[in-house]
Amino acid sequence: MIAIYPGSFDPVTLGHLDIIERGVILFEKVIVAVLCNPNKQPLFTAEKRVEQIRHCTQHLAKVEVDSFTGLTVDYAKLHKARVLLRGLRVLSDFEKELQMAHTNKTLSKEVETVFLATNKEYSFLSSSTVKEIAQFGGAISHLVPENVARDIRIHYS
Ligand code: PNS
Repeated sequence: MIAIYPGSFDPVTLGHLDIIERGVILFEKVIVAVLCNPNKQPLFTAEKRVEQIRHCTQHLAKVEVDSFTGLTVDYAKLHKARVLLRGLRVLSDFEKELQMAHTNKTLSKEVETVFLATNKEYSFLSSSTVKEIAQFGGAISHLVPENVARDIRIHYS
């Protein structure tokens, strides 16, 4: 079974990477799908985010990385994927995630959302936290893959 792991990944964190690594144990293939959202001003372009994720998932043969625009369920259907994979960190994630899963279900009955509990080590971690810390010169190397930490340092230097 193919799973799509959709998200903004601006930037990808060690929490995301943990979900990807556990996802490939469960699914035949995991397609990490970076949303190219014209309404948001990301830190990194979609192309750069794809490159960053490809780099830090090189060791995972069953991972593909791509970007997309539009509806996630349409992207899933295009790739014959029946599963959307999402990580759940804390209770506050649940409301947004459940709303999203229900919305997607109204758009496509065939696509199921599967949640993985985020490793508790990363339950506090988000891409926006990483950006905020980096902006004020704090350490981020324990929060994001090495190549991403380097890109962020260059960005803010
Ligand atoms: O990493 P994020 O920002 O929490 O990911 C959110 C994402 C990309 C999964 C969600 O916004 C999404 O699926 N957007 C695509 C548009 C869509 O399908 N909307 C309907 C479901 S809410």
